[in-house]
Amino acid sequence: MCGIVGYIGKDNAKNIVINGLKRLEYRGYDSAGVAFIDSGKLKIYKKSGKIRDLEFELNRDLSLPHIAIGHTRWATHGEPNDVNAHPHVDCTGKIAVVHNGIIENFTELKKELESRGHIFKSKTDTEVIAHLVEEEIKNGKNLLSAVLSATSKLKGSYAAAVIYEGEPDKIVCVRKDSPLVIGVGEGENFLASDVPAFLSYTNRVIFLDDNECAVITADNVHIFDLNGNEITKETKEIPWSIAQAEKGGYKHFMIKEIYEQPRAVADTISGKLSLFEENNRELLTTFGKIQIVACGTSYHAGLVGKFFIESVAGIPVSVDYASEYRYRNPIIDEKTLIIAISQSGETADTLAAVRLAKKKGAKVVAICNVIGSTITREADYTIYTHAGPEISVASTKAFTTQLAALFLFAVEAARIRNKITKKKEERLLKALSEIPAKMKEFLDRESEEGQVRKIALEFYNSQDALYLGRFVNYPIALEGALKLKEISYIHAEGYPAGEMKHGPIALIDEKMPVVVVVPRDRVYEKMVSNIEEVKARKGKVIAITNRDCLEVKKLADFAIEIPETEELLYPFLTVVPLQLFAYHIADFLGYDVDQPRNLAKSVTVE
Ligand code: AGP
Repeated sequence: MCGIVGYIGKDNAKNIVINGLKRLEYRGYDSAGVAFIDSGKLKIYKKSGKIRDLEFELNRDLSLPHIAIGHTRWATHGEPNDVNAHPHVDCTGKIAVVHNGIIENFTELKKELESRGHIFKSKTDTEVIAHLVEEEIKNGKNLLSAVLSATSKLKGSYAAAVIYEGEPDKIVCVRKDSPLVIGVGEGENFLASDVPAFLSYTNRVIFLDDNECAVITADNVHIFDLNGNEITKETKEIPWSIAQAEKGGYKHFMIKEIYEQPRAVADTISGKLSLFEENNRELLTTFGKIQIVACGTSYHAGLVGKFFIESVAGIPVSVDYASEYRYRNPIIDEKTLIIAISQSGETADTLAAVRLAKKKGAKVVAICNVIGSTITREADYTIYTHAGPEISVASTKAFTTQLAALFLFAVEAARIRNKITKKKEERLLKALSEIPAKMKEFLDRESEEGQVRKIALEFYNSQDALYLGRFVNYPIALEGALKLKEISYIHAEGYPAGEMKHGPIALIDEKMPVVVVVPRDRVYEKMVSNIEEVKARKGKVIAITNRDCLEVKKLADFAIEIPETEELLYPFLTVVPLQLFAYHIADFLGYDVDQPRNLAKSVTVE
C-alpha cells in the first residue's frame, strides 16, 4: 500500500504534490519521489527515508512546474532505496510513472522488454509500466492509448499515474484493484490514492472504479473504460475533515485496519502458487523440524501456524515466545528451520532469537510485513505479508496476513515433500482463496447490523473476561484476550477450553463474560460441553459459531455467526469478531484505541 498524488493547474505543482504525499504518509513511508515537467523538460527527484528529506532536495530546485506526480512508498518489490523509489522512467527519460499495487507478471514482462533492449534501473515491478508505455509511444500512439495498451498487458493490482514530456499538458492515470480518486478544482485538478492528499484544496471528488482510466488537464477530467470509450462519472462532495479522511472515514485506524483485512489477505495470497523462488526451494527440503519464534500477536499466529504445518505437511513444529527462546538454550542443529514472525521486523526479542539460532547453524525464514526491516536483512529468506502499513498498535490485519503466509508455507512444504495429494492441495488453496470474500461478508453484515457492537455495549463495564477455544482456535482465544487487554485495559485470559476444569472454572460467576470460539469442527461437541459447564456456573457466554450450530445458539447468551469454511481455516474468520469486540469496548470506554497506554507499535528494546 503506497500513496500516489498528482496535480495539474496554475500553482506550484511541486509543493502541492509534496503536501499531498505528507498527508498520505500513513500509507507508506520508506521512500518517496516526485516527477514534474518544467519548460518542456521532465525532472525526477526521489529519495529513501522520510518525505521531509525529499522536500529538502526539492526546495533547492527553483523551477515552478504546473504539472507533477508523486509517490510515497511501502515497498513490496525491491529494497527501500533511492533507485527503487518512485517515480520510475523509461529508457528515454521522457516518461515517468508512479504506481500503487502489485504487478504479478512483472518478471516475464521485464524479461521480454530486456530481450527487446530495454535497460532496467530498479528492482521494482512498477518500472515495467514505464517501458511498456515507451514502446507504445514509439509505435505512434498518444499517451492515453499508450497507457491503455500498456496496462492491458499487466496482471495484478495497479493505480498508476503517468506524465510524458511529449504531452506536458496532461496526466493519464488508470485503476484496477487499487484506490484512485480525482479532486476537481477551478482551473486545476488533482489525483491521489486517497482524498486526504487534496482535501485542503477541494472536496469535490470523482472516485475512479476498477478498469477505468482518466486524462486530467488543468481545465478538464475525461474518464474512459479500458477500451478507450469515454464514460461520464458523478462528482461527489466529501463532508470529512482531513483527520477523518486519513482514517478513510473510520473513527480509528484499528477499525479501519480490521475492515482492510479482506484486501490484505487477498494481496498476501494473490497469485502465489509458490512462496519460494527456484533457488531457495531447497530451504524447504533439508530441515527435519521447525521452531517458530515471535512475540505478542505474532506469537499467536505462530501457534496457529503449528496446526497448519503439522496437519498439512506432517512436520514437527515448536512455538516459542522469542523472549524465552533466547535464554532457554534451545536444541538446534542444521536440520532445524526457524520461522521468525514479526509485523515490524524490528522486535528486539525476535531479532535476538534469530541471531542465536543462526549462530547455532539453523536456517531462518522470516514472515514480515516491512520490506527492508532488520529481520528481513538477517533472515536467510523472507516471506512478505502484504497488509500495508499497520498504524494502530493493536495488530489486526498483520495477524490474518501472517496466517495466510503460514498456510501457504504449510501447503508448499507438503507439496515439495509429496506429503499432500493434488486433490487435497487444490481443495485447501481454493478454500483459502475464498477467505477474503467470507471475511468481507461478515464485516458487511456487521456494518449493517452492528451485532458485535451491541454485544460489546453489554460488557464494557466488565472487570474480567475469559476466552476459550480448542484445536486451531485455542490460539484465537489467546489473541482475543490480548486484544481486549491491550486496548481496554480489562483483565482477560485466553485458555484451551479443555483446561478450564483444571483451574479457571473457579473464576466463573454471573459477572464473568466468557467468550467461546466454537465453529463446527472436530472439537465442536467438546466445546458444547464446556459451554454447559460455564452456564452451570451462571457465566455469560458470547459464542463465535456457525449458523447451523443450534445447540450453541440455544446455550449461549449471545451467538455471533461466522461463514463456514475448512476447519483449519476458521482462525481467519473467528478472530474478526474478537477484534471488533475489543475495539468497541475500548471505544465505549473512550480510550485512545490506536495509541494504548504503556504500548509501542514496535518493541525495539529487550
Ligand atoms: C499486538 O497487537 C501488539 N502490538 C504486540 O503484541 C505485537 O504483536 C508484538 O510486539 C510483536 O510485534 P511484531 O510482530 O512487530 O514483532
